[in-house]
Amino acid sequence: MNLVRLERLVKRYGDLMALDHMELDIRAGEILGLLGPNGAGKTTLIHALTGLIAVDSGTIELFGHAMRPGKLEPKRHFGLVTQELTLFYDLTARENLAFFGGIYGLKGKALQKRVERTLQLVGLEERADQFPGKFSGGMQRRLNIAAALVHEPRLLIMDEPTVGIDPQSRSYILDTVRELNRQGTTVLYTTHYMEEVQALASRIVIMDDGHAIANGTVDELIARIQLEEKLQMEVSEPTEQLIEQLQAIGGVKQVKQEGRRLLVSIRPGADVLEPLLAAARTYGGGVRYVNADKPTLEDIFLTLTGKQLRDGDGGEAE
Ligand SMILES: Nc1ncnc2c1ncn2[C@@H]1O[C@H](COP(=O)(O)OP(=O)(O)OP(=O)(O)O)[C@@H](O)[C@H]1O
Ligand SMILES: [Mg+2]
Repeated sequence: MNLVRLERLVKRYGDLMALDHMELDIRAGEILGLLGPNGAGKTTLIHALTGLIAVDSGTIELFGHAMRPGKLEPKRHFGLVTQELTLFYDLTARENLAFFGGIYGLKGKALQKRVERTLQLVGLEERADQFPGKFSGGMQRRLNIAAALVHEPRLLIMDEPTVGIDPQSRSYILDTVRELNRQGTTVLYTTHYMEEVQALASRIVIMDDGHAIANGTVDELIARIQLEEKLQMEVSEPTEQLIEQLQAIGGVKQVKQEGRRLLVSIRPGADVLEPLLAAARTYGGGVRYVNADKPTLEDIFLTLTGKQLRDGDGGEAE
């Protein structure tokens, strides 16, 4: 079942098409990773589907019903973690959560219970009575995520929730998302960190210039765009004859030599490990080391768009 279905969404800002016939489905139970460079239209997409901005054309279906302006019902079922922090700095952590729960109509004991559960979930129960201005960036982020969760949404929408935070908070957030998903929450997760999507998402949509350019699991994307796999092999004696032998193996595209190390590019899906090892034993004096690298999402993205993701960092949190 699709919780969200977006068809041919168009959003213009003057001459700029921020959304250019964007299509997207979010299926119940999945963690959908939405990946795209700066300005791809990720936040615009999220704002459109949550009703924060009006689109110029296209259809938005939420939980099986067409979205209409001013209709509040569907909004109860999603939680939005905005790209910029949305917190009140003159309220304590607990009061912040009580406020957000209150917006969704929670009251009294039920509200109290949800606030405490959510504080626990993001690991802030000991900070509950402090003001978020005193928190580290990562803790503020966790509180911001908690604010989107007090009302137990079916769909959690996260717009780059791990930008610029400490590695500890980051891994805490990833664990929280996994746990929520295990408990049945569907998640739309936007990021430019490759390894986060790779570790978290069951399906990936890559977005560029306002529309989806690819859609599938990591394995499907790799298979579809036919990225070559790379194998590194270190041999005792890298002879000319060895390189010739390796190049003659069906499925081997190229062999490059760097000292004792040979970099072998392989056609996607080709099963060449055994013949490579056999040749290395016979003509290279034995194999000292082998390492096979599957193409990463970074490779896929580069191939599809010709662009690096933001910062060109591939995802180390500082
Ligand atoms: N209110 C606005 N007025 C004019 N242009 C806008 C507005 N909001 C967004 N844009 C433009 O629309 C395009 C898409 O922006 P959007 O914020 O959706 O990208 P994004 O994928 O979220 O990028 P980032 O990774 O930087 O958050 C950009 O070119 C942006 O400059
Ligand atoms: Mg954005």
